[in-house]
Amino acid sequence: MPKPNPSKPPSSDSAVLPSEMSAAITHYIRAGYPGLYVVSAEELRVEAEFKAIAQTLNYSLHFWSVVDGLIDVKAKTVNNANDPLEALEAVKNLPEKSVVLLKDFHLFLSDPNPILLRKLKDTLLHTKLKQKLLVILGCRLCLPPELEHELTIVEFKLPGPVELRGVLGGIMESAGIKSLEIETREKAVEAASGLTTIEAENAFALSVAETRTITPSIIAREKAQAVKKNGLIEIVEVRETLNSIGGLDLLKDWLLRRKDAFSQRAQAYGLPSPKGLLIIGIPGTGKSLTAKATAAVFNVPLLKLDAGKLYGGIVGQSEANLRAVINTAEAIAPCCLWIDELEKGFAGSKSSGTTDGGTSARVFGSFLSWMQEKTKPATTGEEQRRPYRC
Ligand SMILES: Nc1ncnc2c1ncn2[C@@H]1O[C@H](COP(=O)(O)OP(=O)(O)O)[C@@H](O)[C@H]1O
Ligand SMILES: [Mg+2]
Repeated sequence: MPKPNPSKPPSSDSAVLPSEMSAAITHYIRAGYPGLYVVSAEELRVEAEFKAIAQTLNYSLHFWSVVDGLIDVKAKTVNNANDPLEALEAVKNLPEKSVVLLKDFHLFLSDPNPILLRKLKDTLLHTKLKQKLLVILGCRLCLPPELEHELTIVEFKLPGPVELRGVLGGIMESAGIKSLEIETREKAVEAASGLTTIEAENAFALSVAETRTITPSIIAREKAQAVKKNGLIEIVEVRETLNSIGGLDLLKDWLLRRKDAFSQRAQAYGLPSPKGLLIIGIPGTGKSLTAKATAAVFNVPLLKLDAGKLYGGIVGQSEANLRAVINTAEAIAPCCLWIDELEKGFAGSKSSGTTDGGTSARVFGSFLSWMQEKTKPATTGEEQRRPYRC
């Protein structure tokens, strides 16, 4: 089955409404920012956004990769500047009002050489003066301290309902599906939230291949697979309800009172969303069971985070992992994020300054501030084995 070209924004509302991202980037360009660092695993989607932005602002657009060199997107001319230093030199020769999207450049920044850093800094001075914008696009943030104040970081969020509806529309069009009940369509879009554009497109196409129509449960199944890939989060199927729990009446009562807290009516009334629940107890006392029943009470998907896997060997990897987890949880929201064995994941954050250069303290701090500030309806249920001590 032919798939719609993802580099072309889908035909529906997403083409009409500029996304939040493109509005922000447009403002950066208008304000004369010299360089951005866009963090996203969705190269095609970012390329499509930049094509639309460059067209609106009447800027010329250039893509660079180590394999292709520098390509003028409109004129289709190629400059074989495959080396990153040559690429930066080539930027100087571009006309004013140019945007250059550097695709593999971040890989040279994880262990940068001083010549490349100097060249990049000089190029950023040049782009500032000549109304050009340098954009480093990478799926992870590798920013040496020397560049922290030179580049502005833009984190591309995973596609929202508007974009996903567009992707679904494209698949339905190419599969010849004329109509779909609004309820099924919305369930499919909800099931696809948390996926990248390509993953959502694949899940919709698979659903058509398996059932000849859009079946939300297949998309949910594919999402459970896709989310598992980074090894940090998994979607847990919940069969338990509050009735499965014996005792714990106070907790059950607390949960039932907040049952509708994420509903639109509750939001309109101004009720605060529950932020989280910390469950502490010795093994075998129903902590995991309660986490599952909590998701059932709120009738939302249960995401299980393996906090121990948050920590990565490379500098900055743990922080990047936490950002990925938060992005996924927010894209799937409303959801319940279950952090099993919390004390293992966030252990030692107090002595972190002397043991791991402050990484666990920073990650724990970022997590707490997300819980405090978050506006998306993701509630957290955390679990701690160690008995509570005053
Ligand atoms: N209050 C309870 N009501 C019903 N079953 C319980 C309760 N507490 C524990 N269990 C059962 O005991 C087992 C272990 O519970 P679990 O939730 O995994 O414990 P924990 O996560 O606290 O170590 C599970 O099979 C669970 O169903
Ligand atoms: Mg447990």
